[in-house]
Amino acid sequence: MLHDPNRVYVFDTTLRDGEQVPGCQLTTPEKIEIAKELEALGVDIIEAGFPISSPGDFQSVVELSKAVSEPIICALTRANKGDIDSAVAALKYAKRPRIHTGIGSSDMHIKHKFNSTREEILARAVDAVKYAKQFVEDIEFYAEDAGRADINFLAQMVEAVIGAGATVVNIPDTNGYCLPDQYGSKIKFLKENVKNIDQAIISVHCHNDLGLATANSIAGLQNGARQIEGTINGIGERAGNTSIEEVVMILKTHQTLGLHTNINTKNFYELSRMVSSQMRMPVQPNKAIVGSNAFAHSSGIHQDGFLKNRENYEIIRPEDVGFPDASIVLTARSGRHALKFHLERLGFSLSKEELADAYHRFLTVADSKLDINDQDLLLMMNKQQLA
Ligand code: KIV
Ligand code: ZN
Repeated sequence: MLHDPNRVYVFDTTLRDGEQVPGCQLTTPEKIEIAKELEALGVDIIEAGFPISSPGDFQSVVELSKAVSEPIICALTRANKGDIDSAVAALKYAKRPRIHTGIGSSDMHIKHKFNSTREEILARAVDAVKYAKQFVEDIEFYAEDAGRADINFLAQMVEAVIGAGATVVNIPDTNGYCLPDQYGSKIKFLKENVKNIDQAIISVHCHNDLGLATANSIAGLQNGARQIEGTINGIGERAGNTSIEEVVMILKTHQTLGLHTNINTKNFYELSRMVSSQMRMPVQPNKAIVGSNAFAHSSGIHQDGFLKNRENYEIIRPEDVGFPDASIVLTARSGRHALKFHLERLGFSLSKEELADAYHRFLTVADSKLDINDQDLLLMMNKQQLA
């Protein structure tokens, strides 16, 4: 089968990078429940954990490997034999195993985390990939803190690990430092200057410290990356990871980018709620795609435009991401059109004069409440009919 050059692979790390958030730890059965939903969503790779980090994490990778058959199951390691041995053992039952190994690539990490040199780090990177390759065919290499790495050294590292057998090269913006054009240029440079780059897939893994994770991931894809790593609801350490639902819906909405995924977008809303409740991590109401206000229209001008034609204020249909429905929220900022819409829904058909009168009463009620529900409207209309 020919490889589709416009296909973007989705690598979910909700259960590894996402689960590193304090207070978000999951039991193995909870992880299995989420993993099954990720499989139904259509993600290509599930990063199931970091087996050496704890017996619980090791066991989760074992059980997830048994429970999920379609996606690749990936386990994280540092660039050393002990970590890799543990990952190999944990992935024993995976139908399609992947080892994700790597090491720091910025001078900051090389000096202040590893107290080492570029030469030594390069050798460790190559050794780790070669070692892992003896056990598992599919090896992803991460160049940690690539966002701040010297581009020539990064290119050298990427070329060396592909030469050693890496099938995927992950270019993480570990600290969410880059601007979109900087991150995009890094990927472009690697595409153009690493001799064996076509033997591997470039992966983008962005953190959200400056609120740029999604924009940076898209910039990476526009410049040749074909795998995107992220989490549901964008959960993750500090300000979180790239939010998978955002990237996927950007690719779907902007078809001129010419890129596509295998994701069943209708599953996003339910999965978002499941992750939120199991990880005890509320979704902010204005979160793109899955926040409770993502499809709620509340100002009079928007409500009027929306009721004339939804597309005036709707670029994604709520049902496309499994959202219950768009809503017209009644507040003191709402106009006559929104009030008429809700009253008709409740069975009231009013003349122009009656509507003007109802609207007058509505504003009085709305000024004393944050939002108006059906009960408030019925009460208001009963009073009007009695008056
Ligand atoms: O952010 C990062 O660099 C990571 C790596 C371990 C892939 O999560
Ligand atoms: Zn990360």
